[in-house]
Amino acid sequence: MGATEITPELPLFDLRLEPEDVEAVAEALRSGWLTLGPRTAAFEEAFAAHLGARHAIALSSCTAALHLAYLAAGVGPGDEVIVPSFTFVATAGAVLHCGAIPVFAEIASREAPTLDIEDVERHITPRTKAVTVVHYAGYPAAADRLRELCDANGLALIEDAAHAPSATLAGRKLGTWGLAGVFSFFSNKVLSVGEGGLLCTDSEEVAAMARSLRSHAMTSGTLDRHEGRATTYDVVGVGFNYRMDEPRAALALSRMERLEAEVARRRELTLRYRELLAGISGVLVPFEDADVARSSCYVLPVMLERESLQADVARRLRERGIQTSLLYPSIHRFTAYRERFPGVSLPVTELASQTELTLPLFPHMTHADQDRVALELAAALAR
Ligand SMILES: Cc1ncc(COP(=O)(O)O)c(C=O)c1O
Repeated sequence: MGATEITPELPLFDLRLEPEDVEAVAEALRSGWLTLGPRTAAFEEAFAAHLGARHAIALSSCTAALHLAYLAAGVGPGDEVIVPSFTFVATAGAVLHCGAIPVFAEIASREAPTLDIEDVERHITPRTKAVTVVHYAGYPAAADRLRELCDANGLALIEDAAHAPSATLAGRKLGTWGLAGVFSFFSNKVLSVGEGGLLCTDSEEVAAMARSLRSHAMTSGTLDRHEGRATTYDVVGVGFNYRMDEPRAALALSRMERLEAEVARRRELTLRYRELLAGISGVLVPFEDADVARSSCYVLPVMLERESLQADVARRLRERGIQTSLLYPSIHRFTAYRERFPGVSLPVTELASQTELTLPLFPHMTHADQDRVALELAAALAR
């Protein structure tokens, strides 16, 4: 009998909900009100307090939050937004939804795979409207320095903090450094509810615009009419249905109680991983030990020595029951982007995409699980 038949599968991410989460959702269902309502408002209040932000607007996804953040920054047809290519496609896709052009900038290195500020600066043109910084894997990119660069050039800084609830830079929560910060509550995220997102901002105008556009720019909501506060509505812009619903908000609110404890556990596991992996030659673990305390530790990325190892090592680990992933293929190499923007060349990003391997990490992972991953990774590399 082979080892794959007797060892349990180790997933990349394993969602564990508690009875109180299920009860919170059941209670929302029993309430008879399922769309935007009091639970969504309570979640927004709790998340704004968590961030120390003035406004938090819950949305249907982080992609929706990016779209609204770009619109609020005034991004329109022909404008340029500087984004990394080493990120999920939504960071750039939402720029295209505004009729604008994503301009890809390089990451600093494989050790610190977040935006290279000098390269961002090189890409600023008279058409640049905004810069989007991605806090890759939940680790703080240099949002403070990018904020200075953006301020000096009259640009909006947008923070894609999809990975990074509870993470900080200089004692301030990620997501609160720019004009707007966006978060994802997608299934495998640090605070997952299935599908969901949020935009935070300190700007009254941005908050008002996001609240309006998430619900078709209507002057009153269904709940207002249901509860007799309004009888009709006007439409004052061209908006979307980007609303969160009550069961998801209830789940988010319930899960938020454990957010800090779960992130603390992620950090503990990450530090232990770093120790285990330091002994394996040919494996580079991005970021530094000191960064871990400031990170949400969403995932555990490693970089392998050579491009040729990536698929092979992933396959060998899969054969041993260990699931891995690739965060991220370079956006500028996807067909839709290659066709629109031929000739983009980002050697550091491309090498990162060709050598990255994301290892399993989730709060209730055991030390034995980690030992197994390290052992199997070492074995896969030794062949
Ligand atoms: C960096 C980043 N930005 C944006 C998104 C989009 O989030 P959502 O799936 O909630 O739309 C993701 C989701 O994976 C992401 O990883």
